[in-house]
Amino acid sequence: AGSGKFFVGGNWKCNGTKESISKLVSDLNAATIENDVDVVVAPPFIYIDQVKSSLTDRIEVSAQNTWIGKGGAFTGEISAEQLVDIGCQWVILGHSERRHVIGEDDQFIGKKAAYALGQNLKVMACIGELLEEREAGKTFEVCFKQLKAFADNITNWTNVVIAYEPVWAIGTGKVASPEQAQEVHAAVRDWLKTNVSADVASAVRIIYGGSVNAANSAELAKKEDIDGFLVGGASLKGPDFATICNSVT
Ligand code: G3P
Repeated sequence: AGSGKFFVGGNWKCNGTKESISKLVSDLNAATIENDVDVVVAPPFIYIDQVKSSLTDRIEVSAQNTWIGKGGAFTGEISAEQLVDIGCQWVILGHSERRHVIGEDDQFIGKKAAYALGQNLKVMACIGELLEEREAGKTFEVCFKQLKAFADNITNWTNVVIAYEPVWAIGTGKVASPEQAQEVHAAVRDWLKTNVSADVASAVRIIYGGSVNAANSAELAKKEDIDGFLVGGASLKGPDFATICNSVT
């Protein structure tokens, strides 16, 4: 952990029911979370309102996606304005499941980020390489290309957190080693320094995602450029998520 306040996001993905979410929210409300960490959870769209009205304000709420622009005739989409309207503060953009399962491309994601930030949503901007890209020695190339699409569209980075999520580590139980994650985080920071500004490079939080759990988070959190986590599976268990939130304390 280095830059700024430690940050932990819980990405619930397409999981949960009214009942299971009510239990998770009460576990989170009862958990002891240290002061020096920003905590955000991302329920599926249809449960955001339920979570907003029952979860402690200590924890902010995120969507997992948003529409690229103003709402209107876009069947099945949810606009940034609508998220703001129900009190949602964040959105996750560029998650690997949206890139590789749904087929969103760099430019589409970059434009979404610009629009969401313009509506005062804060953004978790996700990047990360596939296993074959890592094995081909293309990790930096892929991450920088995805990062550039964000950078081409973002003018103010104050409300942006970058999430490095190597695709091979997501939902696989194969967490990146602290050294592997640190190497990419440092390279991302360096890229920002060269291509955006030294101020943004030192201030922006770069969080790691991919099989983070209550047993491995403390080791990862020791690394200088790992400023937090984006947690999938383990964020569905309140006590485990609280342990991850308290990784640096
Ligand atoms: O966005 C979080 C993520 O993709 C990691 O998922 O289940 O490997 O922690 P998981």
